[in-house]
Amino acid sequence: MNDKTRYIILRQREIMKGYTSADVNAEDTDQMQELPPPQMFSKPKCREIISLPLDFRDCVSERGIADLLAERKSLHDFSPVALTMKELSFLLWATQGMRSFAGKEVKVSYRNVPSAGSRHPLETYMFIDKVIGLKSGLYHYLPMGHMLQLLEEGDDYREELAKALCDQEFALEAAVVFVWSAVPYRTEWRYGLKAAKYIMIDAGAVLENLYLAGEAVGCGTCALGAYDQELLDELLGFMPGPSAEPGYEFSLLAAAVGKRRKRPQP
Ligand SMILES: Cc1cc2nc3c(=O)[nH]c(=O)nc-3n(C[C@H](O)[C@H](O)[C@H](O)COP(=O)(O)O)c2cc1C
Repeated sequence: MNDKTRYIILRQREIMKGYTSADVNAEDTDQMQELPPPQMFSKPKCREIISLPLDFRDCVSERGIADLLAERKSLHDFSPVALTMKELSFLLWATQGMRSFAGKEVKVSYRNVPSAGSRHPLETYMFIDKVIGLKSGLYHYLPMGHMLQLLEEGDDYREELAKALCDQEFALEAAVVFVWSAVPYRTEWRYGLKAAKYIMIDAGAVLENLYLAGEAVGCGTCALGAYDQELLDELLGFMPGPSAEPGYEFSLLAAAVGKRRKRPQP
């Protein structure tokens, strides 16, 4: 390891500690400066909005949490069987679904995943290939109202997505490739230097809910941390960074989800 790499690694450890030991004022936040809070949701960008069904309980396995945990493992070999809308709806409900919305000056949404200060800095995008009733394309989840918006129709993205996912071709066989973006200012406004740590922990909670919810509807998941930042951001239409814009967002984590192949009967 050369000196530059070692230096960066030592700085990254400080990020994991929330800079509590660094020679900076970790308490200097925009909320403390009484700056206005950022928008907590991305606004719908297109007219094609699809409501997701909330009556998905009948497609969710009754197996208990111990079984789902014991069976969870990363899947690299997806069946070509499509997901139903109810199953996709359940996955989105489990990973970002909203329970309530409160607050006067500072709006807070409570969801099915925890988030530091309930700041919920993540947005969910999906490259959908095999979901019954949905055209192939790039979609964005709108937690308020539990809806999808179609951002781009068609599967022209496939070649670019394979490149952006560092040629992990198996992921393109999945029914859906999820990409979570971070809108970091939502969390930075309140937590300043601790925000980076919290946003990454938030992403871990979302990922694990996807793994477990997937198991409950006969799907397997594979996290995709190996991706090309610039290519994936470009494919999702994010402005190139770095940027101090409050709405600036970038890809943070991806995951492929699809049906498990049926095991041959002995
Ligand atoms: C943050 C994170 C990033 C990951 N990125 C990838 C990836 O890019 N490609 C891949 O095949 N697996 C990826 N994985 C899956 C791990 O390789 C997998 O969880 C690990 O091998 C343990 O296997 P298990 O999930 O079946 O227990 C990732 C997992 C995590 C938590």
